[in-house]
Amino acid sequence: MSDTFKKTPSKDGAQPEREPGGLRKSLTNYGDNGFSLFLRKAFIKGAGYTDSALDRPVIGIVNTGSAYNPCHGNAPQLIEAVKRGVMLAGGLPMDFPTISIAESFSQPTSMYLRNLMSIDTEEMIRAQPMDAVVLIGGCDKTVPAQLMGAASANIPTIQLITGSMLTGAHRGERVGACTDCRRYWGRFRAEEIDETEIAAVNNQLVASVGTCSVMGTASTMACIAEALGMTVPGGASPPAVTSDRMRIAEMTGTQAVQMARDGLTIDKILTAEAFENAMRVLLAIGGSTNGIVHLTAIAGRMGYDVDLKALDRMGRETPVLVDLKPSGSHYMEDFHKAGGMATLLRELKPLLNLDTLTVTGRTLGEEIEAAGPAFEQDVVRPFDRPIFPQGGIAVLQGNLAPGGAIIKQSAANAKLMEHEGRAVVFENAADLAARIDADDLDVNADDILVLKNIGPKGAPGMPEAGYIPIPRKLATAGVKDMVRISDGRMSGTAFGTIVLHVTPESAVGGPLAYVQSGDRIRLSVAKREISLLVSDDELAARAARHPVTVPKAERGYRKLFFDTVTQADQGVDFDFLRATEHRGTTPRS
Ligand code: FES
Repeated sequence: MSDTFKKTPSKDGAQPEREPGGLRKSLTNYGDNGFSLFLRKAFIKGAGYTDSALDRPVIGIVNTGSAYNPCHGNAPQLIEAVKRGVMLAGGLPMDFPTISIAESFSQPTSMYLRNLMSIDTEEMIRAQPMDAVVLIGGCDKTVPAQLMGAASANIPTIQLITGSMLTGAHRGERVGACTDCRRYWGRFRAEEIDETEIAAVNNQLVASVGTCSVMGTASTMACIAEALGMTVPGGASPPAVTSDRMRIAEMTGTQAVQMARDGLTIDKILTAEAFENAMRVLLAIGGSTNGIVHLTAIAGRMGYDVDLKALDRMGRETPVLVDLKPSGSHYMEDFHKAGGMATLLRELKPLLNLDTLTVTGRTLGEEIEAAGPAFEQDVVRPFDRPIFPQGGIAVLQGNLAPGGAIIKQSAANAKLMEHEGRAVVFENAADLAARIDADDLDVNADDILVLKNIGPKGAPGMPEAGYIPIPRKLATAGVKDMVRISDGRMSGTAFGTIVLHVTPESAVGGPLAYVQSGDRIRLSVAKREISLLVSDDELAARAARHPVTVPKAERGYRKLFFDTVTQADQGVDFDFLRATEHRGTTPRS
């Protein structure tokens, strides 16, 4: 008989002498732990395992492969490589599925499902026996959902990114999703190209499986995961279909076993200082505005609040150094060839907390040293030659957004960042769709487009509809950008002078709800101001005349979502999923 079934020795007949590990963890409750383990092993042996295999540290591997998710199209190869790494290090790999979310296959919007995926991830990590877990994610909401769930489960955790797609070419021009998707679609709307050409472009924008090839949300979260210390060094940048990506996967499996042996739980890595490093990187890469919402949610799971004003102060001393679209001109595969995150972190070193721990058990500073010396490249700029002199994201305040709003200043039009104009208001996404291209829409290039009811509760799920299209009659006249304001989000691949995440949102009665067409609005990015030039008395009178009805649902996940989702400044997480213990604020000002 294997020692597996011997009764666990105990002190005073009550407490086991050591924490159970491997298959002995998370036993199903039949009222007899010995029987629970006996039954568990009997069933898993049905798959052909030996006692020797079952006595090893168990490494769970979260499989988010799905036919609906081409951004994770390399999941089978990644899992094979992770398993190889786990077995080389003496562990037992066990892959299991969770929800997979792909941006363009998620109705009403992927953000609506992020928290559900985080619950799935947390509870399956808790429910099943594993000594460490490898999270395989890539598409925009998957990495945040996995880190949120794993942060709450708090076991040794390592993130494996699926990797970016390759770029394609259209008539000699290099193209990649999805900055170029938007650019070509804008040209099609402006009737600069015809249906034949837009169909040809459609074939070229996504040249392989993998995540969007620019510094969109997926690439942003990959860089953030590495900056947090949650990936092996170099884990952010290898494209999905490369041998480098497979090597990272094998290394990830090997490291997961070491983390299990060392008891290197996620709470030792996700500290306030690590979040500060991640925010520094978010600013320096010209990263997606979604990154701040996701970081806020992950930090909330660890008991930290994100101080948006401190983040803005940090932004004033952090230039954008990474020359990737949409802020710059390159793609993720170029960033990888330029050394990836090691090149950036080396440049940012004076601004980083170098003592933070990573999944390797070494500090971020030690990993930067281990990456070796800098070399000639043109993707990561030196401090004295930045893409943009300040961080990519600026935090705005004012009577239109008492809880704050943000703008991706590195992807905005410099001429519009100090602007006052007349509001042209759309009440919701349906109103926008119905009127934006109408010939009789009363709109000029100097106006400010305002879209309400696309916040966390408004749409629901805070869709990436903040990239309001330029009205067709202005687009065909050559207008490329206008100031646009909403309580929604914007894809990290988008660009323009676009104010997002206005908090509180209009659906819960934020001041945005009471903006009317013809009102004057002032945007000053230099002063970090977003102001509605309407008196408080007038706004109160409008609120009294047309009180807001906060959306509700009768049942199911939709009800849970409406009842518990928080605003953008809280990460749009469910209120009951945040850590119960408050540990502090990040970044420290
Ligand atoms: Fe999946 Fe862009 S759609 S990463």
